Amino acid sequence: MTGRKLFIKTYGCQMNVYDSERMADALAPEGYALTDRQEEADMILLNTCHIREKAAEKVYSELGRLRPLKAEKPGLTIGVAGCVAQAEGAELLRRAPAVDLVVGPQSYHRLPELVRAAGRGEAALDTDFPEEDKFELLPKSRARAAPSAFLTVQEGCDKFCSFCVVPYTRGAEASRPVERLLGEARDLVARGAREITLLGQNVNAYHGEGAGGEWGLGRLIRALAEVEGLARIRYTTSHPNDMDDDLIAAHGEVEKLMPYLHLPVQSGSDRILKAMNRKHTATDYLSLIDRLHAARPDLMLSSDFIVGFPGEAEADFEATLALVQTVGFGMAFSFKYSPRPGTPAYEREQVPAEVADERLQRLQALIARQQRAAQEAMIGRELDVLFEKPGRLPGQMAGKSPFLHAVHVNAPGLEPGAIARVRITASAPNSLSGELAA
Ligand code: 5AD
Ligand code: SF4
Repeated sequence: MTGRKLFIKTYGCQMNVYDSERMADALAPEGYALTDRQEEADMILLNTCHIREKAAEKVYSELGRLRPLKAEKPGLTIGVAGCVAQAEGAELLRRAPAVDLVVGPQSYHRLPELVRAAGRGEAALDTDFPEEDKFELLPKSRARAAPSAFLTVQEGCDKFCSFCVVPYTRGAEASRPVERLLGEARDLVARGAREITLLGQNVNAYHGEGAGGEWGLGRLIRALAEVEGLARIRYTTSHPNDMDDDLIAAHGEVEKLMPYLHLPVQSGSDRILKAMNRKHTATDYLSLIDRLHAARPDLMLSSDFIVGFPGEAEADFEATLALVQTVGFGMAFSFKYSPRPGTPAYEREQVPAEVADERLQRLQALIARQQRAAQEAMIGRELDVLFEKPGRLPGQMAGKSPFLHAVHVNAPGLEPGAIARVRITASAPNSLSGELAA
């Protein structure tokens, strides 16, 4: 059957963005074409995230909102994918009657079968962790790639930070083989990508099968840098304990590797880091940053922080503020600790919500000041901008600087995918603006 429309709503991290594209590829041979209008869809897939409590609750309320739509349009198929699907499984079918199919992150290649089962009115649920590599079993995409594309190189996590559901929802750490990734990168470039961001829950734990044995991420990046037409390489998210010498050196040696690194530290207190099972201290992190800066002096850093982790005292929180002061982040994400059932920290005594809220505000104010300072330091500089799409104003184009800042420029002649030198003239809260350099 052809002519059916698929609407995918993606929550959470960039790995879900990549997975949503792969799900669209899986369903294309079944006659489904993507739409960005939910109301015209024959199938709605929610690609969900389970990292914090609110994320799962958002999915249930979204499913509640979809229920009347389903009553109006009996042929509509509603599916839940991603980490909430993995964690909730059959509970989703029970709690949300509008749901026809549930598919975990390791089973997307089985979507066509599941859709057919749902069509026959059978229970369509797959939350296995099969042995096979789902990405290799998915049909190749023929769609045009975005100028800045994602490529998942690694999935899962064996770190078991005591707050985190990822090792349970995404399973054990696994890396894709080098040749397949190089092939996919060449294909992305042929379809229009100029920048590739390598993705993994623990991307720098990458250890894929390559020529002569296992390759680390540094070696993979060096090989990718040889791909003609590829201009920029990034990777995310990393764990401090997996930054090996070769990867650090790559930051100094590989010109295509952009000078921006998201390296979550979570806390600046050794006591809390220990309780989080992070297996590094604040000093380990700071000396790692020094080594990275020795390799690439202008490397801009970002991080994730959790405030109000069980047992966090004012002094622990102040250690986090002190670490932020020392590093000087280009930007950072900070979250209030959210107790996740099934994780070791779940049962521990919680920090009162008002205390956690107040700390979150203080941390976010400090991070916002650093972000502003980092952006203002760009004013007057000339930077290469990769243009991705038209901006909001007529003639405006929006793109990214090497430091991942959004940049708006009046450049009516430029096409998405162009890289042009821009003189930065102003800084707004979440973006820069500039003009094409002569
Ligand atoms: N509560 C709050 N934040 C969390 N993160 C992961 N699990 C939790 C949790 N239970 C944050 C971490 C991680 C980011 C992706 O989400 O900071 O780096
Ligand atoms: Fe979660 Fe820690 Fe693994 Fe990151 S390293 S995915 S925070 S368990």
